[in-house]
Amino acid sequence: MKKRAIAVLCTGIVLLQLTGCSGFKSFFMLNADTTLEVSTSETEKTPVGAPDLSPKENDSQTTSSGESSSAATTRESASAPTTESETTSVVRPETTTAQTATTAADPSVPQPSTAGNATGLTSRGYTIREVDGITYVDGVMIVNKTYSIPSSYSPGDLTDECRAAFRELQDAAASEAGLSMYVVSGYRSYSTQDGLYNRYVARDGQAEADTYSARPGHSEHQTGLAIDVNSVTYAFADTAEGQWLAANAHRFGFIIRYPKGKQEITGYAYEPWHIRFVGKALAPLVYDSGLCLEEYFGITSVYA
Ligand code: DAL
Ligand code: ZN
Repeated sequence: MKKRAIAVLCTGIVLLQLTGCSGFKSFFMLNADTTLEVSTSETEKTPVGAPDLSPKENDSQTTSSGESSSAATTRESASAPTTESETTSVVRPETTTAQTATTAADPSVPQPSTAGNATGLTSRGYTIREVDGITYVDGVMIVNKTYSIPSSYSPGDLTDECRAAFRELQDAAASEAGLSMYVVSGYRSYSTQDGLYNRYVARDGQAEADTYSARPGHSEHQTGLAIDVNSVTYAFADTAEGQWLAANAHRFGFIIRYPKGKQEITGYAYEPWHIRFVGKALAPLVYDSGLCLEEYFGITSVYA
C-alpha cells in the first residue's frame, strides 16, 4: 500500500513536470510568434508602387504646361534670388519626444517596391530607410542637402501622380477663384541641375548659390515630384495665385517645401513658388502642423 502510494505520487510529479514544460513551451512559442508577427508587419510596411529607377533616354524637360524647361530654367536663372536677408526666428523641431508616425504612406507617392531594411528612426520616431541610394522617411522620398539621389535617377518628367494632382489643383484654382496656375519648371535631370547650379555658383559664389539652388543630385526637381508654379520671384507670394497656392496646395497633396522663416532647417531661402507632392494623406498634416518637412519628420538638411 505504501509502495503504491509512492508510485502514484511519483507519477503525479512526472506528469506535473511534463505539463509544466509543455505549458511553458507553448507560452514561449506564442510570444515568439507574436514578436515575429509584429516585426514582420513592421518590415512589410514597405509600400508599393516603386518608381522606375532605370535611366531613360528621353531627358525631355517639357513640363505639363507644355513649356520646355529650358525656357523655364532661363526664367528661373533670370529671377532667382540673389540676396537672402531673412532674419525671422526659426522654430526648431521637437527632438526630445519620439513620435509614432500616424500617417499610412500614401500609395500615390512613389515608394520602394522591394523590402528595404529599416535603417533606423528619425529624431521624431519615423522610420528612415535607404533603398537603392534613395532615402525614404515613413515611405516618403526625401531629397534635400543631407539626402541625395543617384545621378541616374530619372523619371523623365513629372510623375503621373504628381501631374494628376497638379491638374486637380489647376482646375480648383480656376473654378473656385478664377486663377490660372501653371508649371514653369517641373522635372529637371541631374545634368540640367548641374548646369543650373554651376551657373549660379559662377554668378553669385557657392555660399550664396547654396541658399537657393540645390547641388546636382540634391534637387527635388530630379524626382519628378516638385513644381515651380507661375513665377520664380518673391513677389509671387503676394499675388492672388501665390496666396491661393499657400492656402490650398495641401488639399491636392502638395506642400510649400521651403516656407518662410525655415531657412536654417530646410537649408533654402523661402520659395513661395516651389511645391512638393507628398500625397493627400501627408500634405494636410504637414500644413496643419506649421512645420517644414524636415521638422515634421525630424531630419536634417545639411551638406556633408
Ligand atoms: N531651388 C531648389 C532648392 C532647387 O534647386 O531644387
Ligand atoms: Zn523649384
